[in-house]
Amino acid sequence: MAIKRNSRPNNPPNNEDNAPQNQDSPKTKTARKSKAKSNKTTPKPSAENSHLLSPKTTREEIENSEEQIRPHRLADYIGQKELKGILNIAIAAAKGRQEPLDHLLLYGPPGLGKTTMSLILASEMGVNCKITAAPSLERPRDITGLLVNLQPGDILFIDEIHRLNRITEELLYPAMEDYRLDITIGKGQSAKTRSIPLPPFTLVGATTKVGLLTSPLRDRFGMIQRLRFYEPDELILIVKRTAAILKTIITEEGAAEIARRSRGTPRIANRLLRRVRDYVQVQQAESITEELAAEAMEIFDIDACGLDWTDRLVLKTMIEQFNGGPVGLEAVAASTGEDARTIEEVYEPYLLQIGYLNRTHRGRIATEKAYEHLGYQGRLF
Ligand code: ADE
Repeated sequence: MAIKRNSRPNNPPNNEDNAPQNQDSPKTKTARKSKAKSNKTTPKPSAENSHLLSPKTTREEIENSEEQIRPHRLADYIGQKELKGILNIAIAAAKGRQEPLDHLLLYGPPGLGKTTMSLILASEMGVNCKITAAPSLERPRDITGLLVNLQPGDILFIDEIHRLNRITEELLYPAMEDYRLDITIGKGQSAKTRSIPLPPFTLVGATTKVGLLTSPLRDRFGMIQRLRFYEPDELILIVKRTAAILKTIITEEGAAEIARRSRGTPRIANRLLRRVRDYVQVQQAESITEELAAEAMEIFDIDACGLDWTDRLVLKTMIEQFNGGPVGLEAVAASTGEDARTIEEVYEPYLLQIGYLNRTHRGRIATEKAYEHLGYQGRLF
């Protein structure tokens, strides 16, 4: 999917979140701018609850809500202080030279704001941002179509850039280095290469797995920056900012309760806020308080640390079936019935971050903190 966000100052912004999407190519759409400490086994959560802590964007969020609450300027973006400092300098320098920004690679767990940052860069530079993802760039014409339609200075955002196929990746090398598209016409001995000049542009690549990028691709990025999990006080500010946009009254403690259970991830914080807001409305209460937020999240089965049913299942399985590890990812996946990639990309980053899991060359190990949190007597560490 590709969202084209037009942030050129002389194009009036389109603020309709549900603006119809134009068909760009079969795969590419274009839109104008825009604590329960217990080890008892709980039943598997319902489908409505199971996505609540997923850092991946849901269909509902794509279709309407995320755009409404995204910050549009760097000054409004909360957290990622170091990254903002670096980008502020890069923006000022590029504007001063009247050049596009250097190519930028953003990496880190999902939900931390890579797409948002790319859209902000476009706003700050006064250019368009075209958004796509590597799995949509299957055929050479998918990437060439995007490149030849760029305006000077535009940003091309490619999500999951570690998943590019070889041909697409090789088309990107001269495009990134010399703003040139080298295309081969014909086959075999009669094949000819033609070079098409491209407008200067900025490629923003995003990945959760920077280690999987080939070195020729990685080396073509002028800036390589990591996004970190957010601190609780940053998440409190994000929850309060979003609540104000949604015209919802929330107390400081209510925001803190949501922030604590959001796994360091703004996308999860904003999603929990919406669900808690629904609960509070149904309770006919006036504002989101700590008590109501906690009550709502108990119903969603999200514990005081932000762990959900699957996090707890993964840890319990490691503890009960593998004596806490070391155990291989595939064995955990087989025993829990969860997909290995989902465990690795969605659940593990936060469990590692809060010190409930360790990854060693012999496999995963549940830490003493995980034993304590789940109410086990613990093993001798
Ligand atoms: N909404 C989502 N992420 C945000 C951030 N980093 N700052 C402000 N609002 C946000």
